Amino acid sequence: MKYDFDRRIDRRNTRSYKWDQSEKLFGDKDILPLWVADTDFASPPAVREVIEKRAAIGMYGYSIRHDGYLQAIVDWYRRNHGWAVEPEWIIDSPGVVTSLALAVELFSEPGAAVVIQTPVYYPFYDVIRNNGRTVAMNPLLHQGGRFEMDYGQLEKLFQDGAKLMLLCSPHNPGGRVWSEGELRKLGELCRQYGVTIVSDEIHGDLALPGYTHRPLASLSPELAEITISCLAATKTFNMPGLHTSFIVVSDPAKRRKLDQRFKALSLHMAQHFAQDAVEAAFNHGEDWLKQMKEYVAGNVEFAISYLAEHLPEVKPMRPEGTYLLWVDCRALKLDPAGLKDLMFRKAKVAFTEGSVFGTDGEGWLRINLGCPRSIVEEALEAFCKAANDR
Ligand SMILES: Cc1ncc(COP(=O)(O)O)c(C=O)c1O
Repeated sequence: MKYDFDRRIDRRNTRSYKWDQSEKLFGDKDILPLWVADTDFASPPAVREVIEKRAAIGMYGYSIRHDGYLQAIVDWYRRNHGWAVEPEWIIDSPGVVTSLALAVELFSEPGAAVVIQTPVYYPFYDVIRNNGRTVAMNPLLHQGGRFEMDYGQLEKLFQDGAKLMLLCSPHNPGGRVWSEGELRKLGELCRQYGVTIVSDEIHGDLALPGYTHRPLASLSPELAEITISCLAATKTFNMPGLHTSFIVVSDPAKRRKLDQRFKALSLHMAQHFAQDAVEAAFNHGEDWLKQMKEYVAGNVEFAISYLAEHLPEVKPMRPEGTYLLWVDCRALKLDPAGLKDLMFRKAKVAFTEGSVFGTDGEGWLRINLGCPRSIVEEALEAFCKAANDR
């Protein structure tokens, strides 16, 4: 491999959200963190080079949004996803969660039901509730060892009047890369009932080898018209701390509303480092990404076989995308507090306890496999030993 994903980079004392909070959050500074979704891989060298170059200017003034950045986004989606995005469809946003929150505010009425498919990335609940809307749950079906959408229940929610849906595609925490067929079926239902879809595709570049992510809006102009695509390079290339993302909206009326609100909040200015980093990642990071995903797929295989051998009562869901492993630990018969105790106090590891993704996540754990294999091995060894010693 050209890039060394096995290398352990010491991130302690770097103000890392993941590595420098173990004591505060879990009660012990030596707890190994495999929770929040950033990876322990160095970003592509081209990203570091442009950031160093910009840092060397020595002044960090207001920046302009430039064509090279927009072109890099357009080229990336054309090359990697067969999606012809027009530069004028792109709206910058500091983060995908910001985009989700603003979309809820702009495209639903106060008190209205907003549909999510649970268990799901926990800010999906927050952006609905904190905007004074109501969560309408369409629990995912657990079939054949993977999640599937419940179209029947979805249609009931639409019949009851829900007009907005937040889609997580690929799905966090389940790692599903929704197929074209599944997305088309969902899209048709939404069109039939006049539902707008906010599609969070932050994991869209992380379909693992053998799987293909299809951006919902790329499937047809009709689906594009009802879709607000929330995208970013940050998860893919491990630069979420740069706080930069973008929304793609082909429908001019929706775009106008978003544009206006972003301007009203003064969220539209270009960030000094971010555009160059995104441009470099998209223009020069393809090879790095291919190898990173092969490495993560190796971690997935390693983790699944390690658990099968050392703690066969827990059942991981094989991810088709993302670097997250969703593990059914219900056979351990522990409530959320018991699972936390097992992880934090006994095993000294921090995975994400599943109930934060919704009540249907209770008894599950999410393990972040975006790290050197030796860390995965260390964490699983400690966790399996602690579970077996109970
Ligand atoms: C599905 C999903 N959406 C959004 C985010 C966060 O995006 P941002 O940091 O751009 O707000 C994450 C991070 O884990 C995520 O998994």
